[in-house]
Amino acid sequence: MRRKIAAGNWKMNGLRADLSQVNDINTAAAVTDCDVILCVPATLISALSDATTDVLVGAQDCHQNASGAHTGEISAAMIHDAGAQYVILGHSERRADNGETDKCVREKTRTAWAAGLKTIVCVGETLDQRKSSNTLEIIGGQMATSIPDFATGENLVVAYEPVWAIGTGLTPTTDQIGEVHDFIRMRLERRFGEGVGRSVRILYGGSMNPKNVAEISAVSNVDGGLIGGASLTAANFVPIINALG
Ligand code: PGA
Repeated sequence: MRRKIAAGNWKMNGLRADLSQVNDINTAAAVTDCDVILCVPATLISALSDATTDVLVGAQDCHQNASGAHTGEISAAMIHDAGAQYVILGHSERRADNGETDKCVREKTRTAWAAGLKTIVCVGETLDQRKSSNTLEIIGGQMATSIPDFATGENLVVAYEPVWAIGTGLTPTTDQIGEVHDFIRMRLERRFGEGVGRSVRILYGGSMNPKNVAEISAVSNVDGGLIGGASLTAANFVPIINALG
């Protein structure tokens, strides 16, 4: 049995005062059967990891190089040193805003693993790609190039995030989610072998909320969620944790 994950992605939101939300999230995390991860802005990693015992801490990006002359960037080792266990890589907002390619995501993933971080690698189609029935081809291509060799159930989590569902209130049907998650599982098993392929957790992300979490998480091969907007407050995130746990 794969342990479910409730992963929050705070994106570019959150000041130190917002860590007050974490008390109730931590209380829920202490009694649930799922892993609770909060991926906060880099400025909050250290304070969050000091403040929690049951919430796992994540970052939202790291640089592809281990260190060096890259003004303003943050390395995987720095993130790990600040107290994080996880990092999101290849989020569609970074692919769009920062031109991150699949190859760049693969390099970042390798660097993150070398620094001792676990990675949540994001894939997902745009609305145009879905409309032209290219979804599985796109996802397959993103996985093949973004995920390095030597993935395991420990170091890799895959997040399926349809770009058109992120922050829009739109979600795919459960059949559409199931089709993509089954495909991701099949590709993981084919590439990494059945044992590893079956142990990697696959999250759904895109407008997940307290109302739709139960239905979505009941879909085959959905091992939890990557939650943006609804992870910002304990009032919304705690019911999601409870539904997944
Ligand atoms: P959303 O974001 O839950 O606000 O749609 C999800 C994500 O981008 O990870």
